[in-house]
Amino acid sequence: MMAEAIPKPAMRPFLPADTPMLAAIFVAAIQELTGDDYSETQQEAWASTVDDEESFGKKLLGELTLIATLQNAPVGFGSLKGADHIDMLYVHPSVAGRGVGAMLCDALEKLAGARGTTSLSVDASDNALDFFKKRGYVAKQRNSVTINGEWLANTTMEKTLAGGAKA
Ligand SMILES: CC(C)(COP(=O)(O)OP(=O)(O)OC[C@H]1O[C@@H](n2cnc3c(N)ncnc32)[C@H](O)[C@@H]1OP(=O)(O)O)[C@@H](O)C(=O)NCCC(=O)NCCS
Repeated sequence: MMAEAIPKPAMRPFLPADTPMLAAIFVAAIQELTGDDYSETQQEAWASTVDDEESFGKKLLGELTLIATLQNAPVGFGSLKGADHIDMLYVHPSVAGRGVGAMLCDALEKLAGARGTTSLSVDASDNALDFFKKRGYVAKQRNSVTINGEWLANTTMEKTLAGGAKA
């Protein structure tokens, strides 16, 4: 395969002005990357949680939210809730499979480690199970959550950070 000059993703902290862009990434990621595991009605219910952009922005601001950019444009984001829980991790489908999710997750793990965390958890959607498994997360518990009247399954997974995340 010919080597192409693919621009490298960068990272920066979230700013409130990013909210509409991140809402669009959230919706696109759900619509295009989760269809093998969730029905259209489930995807719609999940995506509609950002319809209220103001509360979505508040949530992003209240957590430690990192943004991945490509040529300065946001292409993904991830957030750490408290010291030990990955709350959100979403990558725009146009750049999926190019390491952006791994880069964000790496950074969140380092930040959690720096906050003294030894066990980091995530409620992983079914489509993201293998992504987290590959990174050393272990499934602990299966959950069913209701979002706007739809039941969606996810799995609580945990990764031991001890020794590996001395930031
Ligand atoms: C899960 C998600 C964040 C992964 O982001 P990404 O940028 O595509 O992932 P990466 O390119 O960094 O992948 C890292 C590794 O995981 C693997 N991987 C990524 N998504 C995968 C999937 N759905 N199934 C299996 N493996 C996957 C990649 O092949 C890669 O493996 P490698 O290191 O051997 O090459 C992205 O698919 C997404 O936004 N999904 C929809 C939203 C969602 O469900 N988020 C999780 C909520 S907890």
